[in-house]
Amino acid sequence: MDTTNLFRLDGRTALITGGSRGIGKMIAAGFIAQGATVYISSRKAAACEEAVAELGPKCIALPQDVSTVAGCKALAAQYAEHEGKLDILVNNAGAAWGEPFEDFPEKGWDKVMDLNVKSPFFLTQALHAPLKAAASRERPGKVINITSIDGLRLNPWETYSYHASKSALIYLTKRMAARLIADSINVTSIAPGAFASEMNKAARDHGDAIAKSIPAKRIGVDEDMAGTAIFLASRAGDYVVGDTIVVDGGLVNAALGTSIDA
Ligand SMILES: NC(=O)c1ccc[n+]([C@@H]2O[C@H](COP(=O)([O-])OP(=O)(O)OC[C@H]3O[C@@H](n4cnc5c(N)ncnc54)[C@H](OP(=O)(O)O)[C@@H]3O)[C@@H](O)[C@H]2O)c1
Repeated sequence: MDTTNLFRLDGRTALITGGSRGIGKMIAAGFIAQGATVYISSRKAAACEEAVAELGPKCIALPQDVSTVAGCKALAAQYAEHEGKLDILVNNAGAAWGEPFEDFPEKGWDKVMDLNVKSPFFLTQALHAPLKAAASRERPGKVINITSIDGLRLNPWETYSYHASKSALIYLTKRMAARLIADSINVTSIAPGAFASEMNKAARDHGDAIAKSIPAKRIGVDEDMAGTAIFLASRAGDYVVGDTIVVDGGLVNAALGTSIDA
């Protein structure tokens, strides 16, 4: 077996929402290193351009707010000005909201549900034609949804809509996979644990303290996220469909629970 090209992405195009920083940028850097041309998107044009300056000439900025259906369609139109086909879509942009149960506002519900659940569905719908155009049975297209371990287990914070949104996206991944496999497009998800970012300030600012409660005794780093995304995006992951890969140092699947006898 020749595995030289198993994880390569040469000649492929990718679009990553929320690619200007954090987890989206980790994935962008990994895809570019494997040979892909990567379009990154987020609301702030200046932040996108800063990331492009860092990631190099194979990275292109397409600033857009994707929290509405109109925004998803606008991003698809921007992308169409550059490319006719799309090999890999990463639905990564996400938001969180924490507030006590008694006060939790409608705004904190809608903002999170719109970006974390509605947007991955409608952006994939808006990009269906270029995804289909690139996909074949020999080389399936890829849609990778960035979910969270918070969709699989409870954290202690009062992030009600975030928990619900990530659980919904894990299930939506399966439903979309069941439909899009007919077009040779594989839909999968990555559920990250703790990665330092603007959203996860606890991991960013108190990584050592957080690490103590993780079975692997460290928080996630860029290569952990890029490696899993490259696997799913490349030939190596072509037979993975509808699944969620947990990348969390063991919190979900290798942490011992408390004994009811204790
Ligand atoms: N970090 C973690 O530990 C962790 C753990 C589990 C899951 N996740 C998930 O991973 C994903 C990325 O999180 P992160 O930690 O990297 O967060 P982050 O640092 O806050 O990055 C979020 C990205 O999304 C963009 N964004 C926010 N609202 C947007 C909108 N309406 N339209 C378009 N882009 C928007 C942001 O840029 P602009 O502000 O310029 O729009 C930014 O590029 C999220 O889905 C998150 O739920 C993260």
